Amino acid sequence: MKKENISYWTKSAAINEFPAMEQNIRTEILIVGGGIAGIMTAYRLAEAGRDVTLVEGRKLVQETTANTTAKITAQHHLLYQELYKKQGQEKARLFYDSQIDGIDAIDELVTKYQIDCDFERLSSTQLTDGRSEKAIRKEYDTYEKLGIRSELHEGDMGLPFKTTLGLEMPDQAQFHPVKFLAGMVEACKEVGVKFYEETLVEEIGKVQATTDKGHTIDFQKIIVATHFPIANARNNIISQVEIERSYIVAADGVNIPHGMFQTVDAPKRSLRHYHTENGVGVLVGGENHITGATCNMESAYEKLSASASEFFKGNVTDRWSAQDMMTVDRMPLIGQYDKKDPNVYIVTGFNKFGMATSATAAQLLTDLILRKENRYEELFRPERINTVGNQVKAVGKQIKDAVKGEALAMTDYGTDTSKLKAEEGGIFNVDGKLQAVYKDTDGQEHHVSPFCTHMGCVVKFNDAEKTWDCPCHGSRFDREGCVLEGPATQNLK
Ligand SMILES: Cc1cc2nc3c(=O)[nH]c(=O)nc-3n(C[C@H](O)[C@H](O)[C@H](O)COP(=O)(O)OP(=O)(O)OC[C@H]3O[C@@H](n4cnc5c(N)ncnc54)[C@H](O)[C@@H]3O)c2cc1C
Ligand code: FES
Repeated sequence: MKKENISYWTKSAAINEFPAMEQNIRTEILIVGGGIAGIMTAYRLAEAGRDVTLVEGRKLVQETTANTTAKITAQHHLLYQELYKKQGQEKARLFYDSQIDGIDAIDELVTKYQIDCDFERLSSTQLTDGRSEKAIRKEYDTYEKLGIRSELHEGDMGLPFKTTLGLEMPDQAQFHPVKFLAGMVEACKEVGVKFYEETLVEEIGKVQATTDKGHTIDFQKIIVATHFPIANARNNIISQVEIERSYIVAADGVNIPHGMFQTVDAPKRSLRHYHTENGVGVLVGGENHITGATCNMESAYEKLSASASEFFKGNVTDRWSAQDMMTVDRMPLIGQYDKKDPNVYIVTGFNKFGMATSATAAQLLTDLILRKENRYEELFRPERINTVGNQVKAVGKQIKDAVKGEALAMTDYGTDTSKLKAEEGGIFNVDGKLQAVYKDTDGQEHHVSPFCTHMGCVVKFNDAEKTWDCPCHGSRFDREGCVLEGPATQNLK
């Protein structure tokens, strides 16, 4: 499986490797998925004395967690005014507390295990050039009502672009996510977690999971930390979320701000500095869109690179992209999957803020399994999204529209694949059969079925990553049709 754009985090750190599972096994708690959510949860449960096995379909920490911006913060854009309005004061404050608990938990682990991962405490700030002053002031008022510590900065903030107002949340953090999790994998080993890599779980039953090689894993409890839930939930969570893709460029430069920033005005940019061998660089993120629902992703990188060079006089050294699950009420889904499957738990729906949330999720899942009280149980209970019907319908419509757009264009599918240039892909009618066709650098065509193996939607070519992306629930496949990201677990045929 070839990945086009590899993140700076992946290039600059390594994680110990583990063998694939070669026989049937039995474990008390099975965790599926070796990103930050799975690893943090494995650690907490094993620390509490449980027998824990973590299986990873590919390699540990190579998917979303390795492609994040890695801000560890309770400041999620201008979220609190929305939470306050829709969920009320108590829940909005509880959500803030959940994030602060997550930041503190990561801080404690970094100190306890002396993890060298560039962890730094610093502020997070929302910025406007004047166009979004009203919204920022409203967020500040909400912070005041909720008792959230913050500072409002009027006028220029000394950044290399115009700012008239900034809302700063102090004492947040950032780190190098792969270095942090390399340390946590070692901590997991110390408390007895068993790891298997290249072991993809294809089926989840009530007390047994089956891998792609046909091995079985008997469990008492299972935690699905695969980012996109793979089991078939009766409440069909996967249809009730949006999958949003974003892009990041890393650049060296001369005007690099120290801190974490988010511009509220369009085009929105997420900014932070990071440490390199030779000094510091800047990450510029943005250009979000629903996965598979837009063409010309290459231009996303061009726009971000333009921002990096205009603001920071920087040269782009790395670029990458990833996607996350966006829930209708902007809060994560953590807990029992469905009352009828009491042994199955999920952790997902991070709305692009999975770092602090994963640390909080790890404690919540541990408490749920140990039957201890946890004040976030109700707030993050996955089944709650069944009760926000109207919002769900809105998301459902958006996804349907993306698919409909594809279906309408079906009549336009060409038959002449010779029109494809090298490294281009597209959907063609080849002898009456719809085919996803990719042309490699030697002019060789690679044909696969365009129907996503999850639920049959037609995939779309992503010209920036050279992947086939599904607009329905975000599955992604490489140019040969091999699964890169779920919920699909089977390759394109
Ligand atoms: C561009 C971008 C920027 C972001 N920036 C931030 C930020 O600044 N701060 C923040 O807090 N959050 C941020 N996020 C969100 C955060 O990165 C994610 O929410 C988080 O990394 C998700 O972690 P995870 O463990 O759930 O998923 P992953 O890291 O994707 O891990 C899931 C693992 O499960 C494995 N898996 C999948 N299916 C199977 C299977 N069937 N069997 C076995 N294994 C399987 C996968 O291979 C993968 O390794 C950002 C997200 C994006 C997309
Ligand atoms: S991801 Fe569900 S149909 Fe493709």
